[in-house]
Amino acid sequence: MGAYKPLDPRNQKLSSKNPGCFVSKPVCACLVCGFLSLSLLHLLCCSPAGTQQAVLSPLRQYINNTYSFVSSVPGEGKSCNYSEGTWVRAPGHARRYNATECNVKERQDCIRNGRPDTGYLDWRWQPAGCPLPAFDARAFLSAVRGKHVAFIGDSMARNQAQSLICLLTAAYPYRLMYRDVGQHKHNFWRYAFPSHDVKVSYYWAPFLVRGKGKPEDDGIKENHVHLDTPGDRWAADADTIDVAVLAAGHWLLNGAIYYNSSQVIGAHNAPPEFNYTKIGYAWPLHMAYRTAVERLSSGRPRTVVLATFSPSHFEGRPIDSPTACTKMEPYKEGERELEWIFKEVRDVVYDEAALAKVRAGDGGEVRIEVMDVTKLASMRPDGHPSVYMNHNPFEHGVPAKMLSDCLHFCLPGPVDTFNEILAQILKRRR
Ligand SMILES: *[C@@H]1O[C@H](CO)[C@@H](O)[C@H](O)[C@H]1NC(C)=O
Ligand SMILES: *[C@@H]1O[C@H](CO)[C@@H](O)[C@H](O)[C@H]1NC(C)=O
Ligand SMILES: *[C@@H]1O[C@H](CO)[C@@H](O)[C@H](O)[C@H]1NC(C)=O
Ligand SMILES: *[C@@H]1O[C@H](CO)[C@@H](O)[C@H](O)[C@H]1NC(C)=O
Ligand SMILES: *[C@@H]1O[C@H](CO)[C@@H](O)[C@H](O)[C@H]1NC(C)=O
Repeated sequence: MGAYKPLDPRNQKLSSKNPGCFVSKPVCACLVCGFLSLSLLHLLCCSPAGTQQAVLSPLRQYINNTYSFVSSVPGEGKSCNYSEGTWVRAPGHARRYNATECNVKERQDCIRNGRPDTGYLDWRWQPAGCPLPAFDARAFLSAVRGKHVAFIGDSMARNQAQSLICLLTAAYPYRLMYRDVGQHKHNFWRYAFPSHDVKVSYYWAPFLVRGKGKPEDDGIKENHVHLDTPGDRWAADADTIDVAVLAAGHWLLNGAIYYNSSQVIGAHNAPPEFNYTKIGYAWPLHMAYRTAVERLSSGRPRTVVLATFSPSHFEGRPIDSPTACTKMEPYKEGERELEWIFKEVRDVVYDEAALAKVRAGDGGEVRIEVMDVTKLASMRPDGHPSVYMNHNPFEHGVPAKMLSDCLHFCLPGPVDTFNEILAQILKRRR
């Protein structure tokens, strides 16, 4: 497995006292040099595969044969699985909006930031066995007429939410209903599309559940996460949400101190002075999804879409290397295997969806869907901002160190495909 180096989505800025690093120095050092060994230690030594397996296998038995996955879209009367497929060249396919005009996070506005190559915009996802229609704003809005669509989760959830806003606002009149001010301006917002009485929101909830620590203040060394309590901001609005898209994983992989009620139940990757049972990342990830889905499983009929993990492409290179991700084309089939850790995180999402589906029952009020983007995202190392997370990164020459974003996608870019798939899921009646 490679080093896992998530970006702190709030602090993607170079701090002057700490050039070349956007998190506090110890954290940075840990990310750049120590994370691999740390995570190896935790994964291979302290939370052995057996522990993870012990959690997974009863679940797998429970869902044994009772559930067939829903990651499919309608073809000509037959079901289509879009989670497997290939990227095929399609000139202009992803050139559908100007991200500056739809106010995306500056770090992902690659064209504005001066990314010179544009070939990454010339690909479309071809699922095995059926076409995936290009995004159609009218079809999307019709499918969710009168509804409130909320993206809840980490910065990949935001990446997709901003893509959707760009795709919709490029075609339909809109109204910005709400936006937090200051540092959270990209983290809590809501748009309205009056033509179809549709609302689209984003709720920053990197753990899905209640969490405090680095997401608010990167000066804090550890995260404190309450696995039994949904995130406060989105949970307060949950009874207004008709379609929820959940995406998390990166922060849970990174670790936290975990609580049930006020009781510490263990930790993953916590600083050594916290002497808590090491519980790995898989179980907390299960619990975070479970708590979130449970909160959304009562109160009103709705659709809950669980997005699978969208992996990063640092491929073991340091986060402050200007060449951390410089590929200009998708991987070819078989060129790079998905790292097992990313597979496992995807499996957690499938397992929780399966469990929720069983709980909801056929024809219940809550429809559970999986939006499996892991494979298609893993094939696109070329779609990240890389050094073009910074505005004109080379205007003063080529520095030895410069942060690269090899996790989020440029807007426009491959993440628009997530919304093509979401559109198909939502169009389909069950
Ligand atoms: C699980 O599935 C296998 C084969 O598909 C079957 O033989 C087995 O009885 C099932 N187990 C349970 C607990 O349902
Ligand atoms: C779709 O493909 C994925 C990946 O191969 C697989 O895990 C999933 O079960 C498939 N879904 C269906 C409905 O066949
Ligand atoms: C995008 O829009 C901004 C603001 O309107 C404009 O300055 C810029 O030139 C546009 N970019 C492209 C590539 O059209
Ligand atoms: C928290 O504790 C309660 C009571 O023991 C238990 O039912 C529940 O499953 C626990 N939840 C988590 C997330 O550990
Ligand atoms: C950590 O916890 C273990 C088990 O509870 C205990 O034996 C050990 O002394 C503790 N170490 C420190 C440094 O507190």
